[in-house]
Amino acid sequence: MKAILLGPPGGGKGTQAKKLVKKYGIPQISTGEIFRNAVKAGTEMGLKAKQYMDRGDLVPDDVVVGIVEERLREDDCREGFLLDGFPRTIPQADALAVMLEKTGRKIDHVISLEVEREELIKRLSGRRVCRNCGEEFHVMFKRPKVDMVCDLCGGEVYQRKDDNEESVKNRLVEYEKQTAPLIDYYAGRSLLRSVQGVGGFDEVFERILKSLGE
Ligand code: AP5
Ligand code: MG
Ligand code: ZN
Repeated sequence: MKAILLGPPGGGKGTQAKKLVKKYGIPQISTGEIFRNAVKAGTEMGLKAKQYMDRGDLVPDDVVVGIVEERLREDDCREGFLLDGFPRTIPQADALAVMLEKTGRKIDHVISLEVEREELIKRLSGRRVCRNCGEEFHVMFKRPKVDMVCDLCGGEVYQRKDDNEESVKNRLVEYEKQTAPLIDYYAGRSLLRSVQGVGGFDEVFERILKSLGE
């Protein structure tokens, strides 16, 4: 399966991607995670991306496209892949179609998670993450047993730099302006599978499977 998970910031792309890649045995390609790892490692690309990410702006298309093209050439992507958070602009979507064509491939499904704004703000502003193992917590729904300490590994629990109120608002603006047009773009290509992203994690997952005809 070659699929895209489309959705607003906080829509549940990462959460559902983890379940999908487990079921289908394909790699999850999250451009956000690639950038966060690069920031952590202090690479040149990471330093460049960080300026945009912290504000909640999109990283320039040429940088993102180059990274994805390289990643999709790796062996583990031959049988399929799940793109999480890419493409995010029309030029990125066009570039993706071109790079896949070169190797005789094309996208099968675009899963679009729909969640309204109030819910997104609540999810993102309360999210906390373990710096060490990546486990996620939430100040309202899932507090760590000991404040700021990960239940699983004892690592430090922190707030993503772009989960502060101002950056979250900007991410939502950028999403409406640059990413939401992809819904019509993929609907026009008969690839869009719209899914309500509210409810339990498993409930949303079941809806996704149904939309894929499973
Ligand atoms: P990225 O890392 O992709 O972040 P994002 O899209 O802003 O959104 P999140 O990862 O925060 O949300 P998500 O949809 O994955 O939801 P999650 O499952 O985590 O990108 C970060 C930045 O990198 C961008 O702003 C940009 O700067 C740059 N970037 C990345 N890709 C780019 C690209 N292609 N082009 C240009 N720039 C790019 O869930 C969120 C929270 O909600 C969690 O706490 C979760 O537990 C909770 N939750 C999930 N599902 C539910 C549910 N059903 N009910 C209740 N809570 C739920
Ligand atoms: Mg994510
Ligand atoms: Zn941890």
